[in-house]
Amino acid sequence: MTASELRKKYLDFFKARNHVIIPSASLLPENDPTTLFTGSGMQPMIPFLLGESHPEGKRIADSQKCFRTQDIEEIGDNRHTTVFEMLGNWSLGDYFKNEHIEWMFTFLTKELKLDPKRLYFTVFRGNPALNIPRDDEAVSKWQELFKTIGVDAKTADFSERDGMKDGRIFFYDEKKNWWSRAGTPDKMPVGEPGGPDSEMFWDFGAELKIHETSPWKNEVCHVNCDCGRFVEIGNNVFMQYRKTANGFETLAQKNIDFGGGLERLASAVDDNPDIFRSDVFKTLRETIESLSGKQYGANANETFAFRIAMDHMRAAVFLIGDGATPSNKDQGYFTRRLIRRALRFADKLGIKEAMATKVANAVIASYGDHYTALQSKKDFILTELEKEEDKFKKTLAQGLREFEKISSGAISGVDAFNLYQSYGFPIEVTEELAKERGLSLDRIAFDLELKKHQELSRTASAGMFKGGLADASVETTRLHTAAHLMLAALRTVLGNHIEQAGSNITAERLRFDFRHGAKMTDEEKKKVEDLVNEAIIKDLPVTIEELSKDEAKAKGATGIFDEKYGAIVKVYKIGSGSNQFSYEICGGPHVTHTGELGGTFKITKEEASSQGVRRIKAIIEKKKISAPR
Ligand code: SER
Repeated sequence: MTASELRKKYLDFFKARNHVIIPSASLLPENDPTTLFTGSGMQPMIPFLLGESHPEGKRIADSQKCFRTQDIEEIGDNRHTTVFEMLGNWSLGDYFKNEHIEWMFTFLTKELKLDPKRLYFTVFRGNPALNIPRDDEAVSKWQELFKTIGVDAKTADFSERDGMKDGRIFFYDEKKNWWSRAGTPDKMPVGEPGGPDSEMFWDFGAELKIHETSPWKNEVCHVNCDCGRFVEIGNNVFMQYRKTANGFETLAQKNIDFGGGLERLASAVDDNPDIFRSDVFKTLRETIESLSGKQYGANANETFAFRIAMDHMRAAVFLIGDGATPSNKDQGYFTRRLIRRALRFADKLGIKEAMATKVANAVIASYGDHYTALQSKKDFILTELEKEEDKFKKTLAQGLREFEKISSGAISGVDAFNLYQSYGFPIEVTEELAKERGLSLDRIAFDLELKKHQELSRTASAGMFKGGLADASVETTRLHTAAHLMLAALRTVLGNHIEQAGSNITAERLRFDFRHGAKMTDEEKKKVEDLVNEAIIKDLPVTIEELSKDEAKAKGATGIFDEKYGAIVKVYKIGSGSNQFSYEICGGPHVTHTGELGGTFKITKEEASSQGVRRIKAIIEKKKISAPR
C-alpha cells in the first residue's frame, strides 16, 4: 500500500463516520506566537479543543504536515524524520474514548489488515498526586475488542527484570502516556490543554533487537524501547484537562485528539521497518543513488548520510513551499541548516555536482498530487534551493580545508564561529566534523561568540527554538485584535494591495509582514496609528460570521484564501454598518470589544523583512484610553 493510498483510506474511513476532512495547515503557524513550526496535527486545533466552535463542526479529520525541530538529532535511525505527515481525527466535545478506540481497532485490523497479534498498546497508569485516575476504561475497551477476535489481551506493568510478561496492554506513567504540546504535566504552562493517552505500537519482530551490532541486544524488550523493534504508529489522546495554577481542571468538553504518522503506518503495513525505504522516499532515494553512484543500504557506514540527505532535503522543500526561505533568522534558519547539513552529507557520499534541484524535483514528484501547492510553487522552490546550494558550495570545500587546518585536538569557540561566519557552517556541521575526527568542540564558547556577534539571535529566542511555550494570555489576544485593526488601517492608508504575508504575536508585541514596495513614511505610520486608536476609542464590537470561502471572498473579506482553510471559514468583523472597520478571515481568538485593547497602539518599528516585504512591530502602550462602554 502506498502512503497516498493509506492517506486516502484513512480519510475515507473517517468521512464515512461523519468527519469533515480539512486541508493541512501550513508548517508555519499563523497567529501562534508559541512556536515556530506546526509540530503536531493538533496544533492548529488548539482554540477548538479549548472550546471555540470549529466552522466545520465537531468531527474533523485531516493529514497534517508537521515539522519537529526537536527530532533533528534523532534523524538517522529507521523511523524518525523531521517533516512527516500526521493523520488526525478530532472529536471536539462529541464522541469519546469508546467509539474512538473501536474505530481505531477496526481501522488497523480491518482496513489496514494489520495482524492484531503484532499490535501492542499502552495506557496511563494514573497519578493520585495529579488526581487523575488509571485509565481502566481504555483498557476494558481494547480488551473487549481483542476478545472479539479470540485474543486474550493481558495487561502488565513493564518491568526491567521480567520484560513484557506476556502482556499486550501496558501501564506507563505520565512520562510516556500523557500528551500536551509542552510534554509532561509539570512542564505545561497554565491554560494549556492536555490529557492521558493510549499509544499503539507495531512489532517489527525481535530480529531488529537481537542483531549482532545492536546496542540493545542484551536489553529487556519493551514497547517504548528505542531499538526499533516496536514503532509507535498512533497516539490516542483523551484531551480533557487544562492546567491551572494549582493542578488540573476538566475542560468544558471532552475531546479526542488522534495522531498517527502516515509514513510509519505505511511501514507497518509493508512490514518494512525502514521508513526511508517506503514509497514516499523512492524517487528521492534513487536520485541520490544515481548522483552518488552508491546503493542505499549497501554499506552501513553510508546509511546515516543517505538518511540525513533524504530527510533534510525533503523537509527543506516543504519548508520553502510554506514560505520559510533560507535565511539567517527564525524559521528560515532551520531551512538553511537543513540544506547545508544535507549538502555536507551528500558531499560525503561523493556527490560533487549540483544536486538540490534534482532532489527537489523528486520530492515534488512524490507529493505534488496531494500537496498541489508544491507544484504551483515549484519554480520558486527550485530557485531558492539552487541559490542556497550555490552559496554554500562556494564555501564548503574551502571551509573543509580550513577545518583540517585548525583541527589539531580541540576546536575552540572562535574557530567554530569563524567557520560559521566565513564559510557558513552551521554549528551542527562543525560539531559533526569534530565528532567524526574524535575532536572536542567548545560549544559554550561558540554560543558566547555567536551572542557577541549576532544581534539577530535575540529575535528568535532560545525558548522558541525549543518549541517552548509563551503564555496563552489575554495580552496576546489583544495584540491579535490590534493586528486586524492595523491591517485594515494599512489598507486605508497604503492601498488595497496590502495583505498579510506572515505574523507573529506575543504578549509583548505584534509582528506583521506585508508586501509593499516602499518604506513607510512617518506620516503614513502616524495615520495608521491614529486610525487604529480611533477604532479602540470607539469600542467597536468584534463579531464572528461563518461563511463559505466564496461568500467570504464575495463580501470582501481580507485574509489568506489558500488551501489552509476548509470550505467554511470564520470571518471576524470589527465594527458594523457604516462603522465597519475590519472584515478578516481568521481562526481567532479575539477580544469582544476593541475597548478591551486598553491602551494606545504604537508602531515601534517598520523595516524591510525581505525583498518587497515590509515588517512592522507594534505594541499597545498601557495608557488608559477612556472607552465609552
Ligand atoms: N497530539 C498527539 C500527537 O501529536 C496526537 O495527535 O502525538
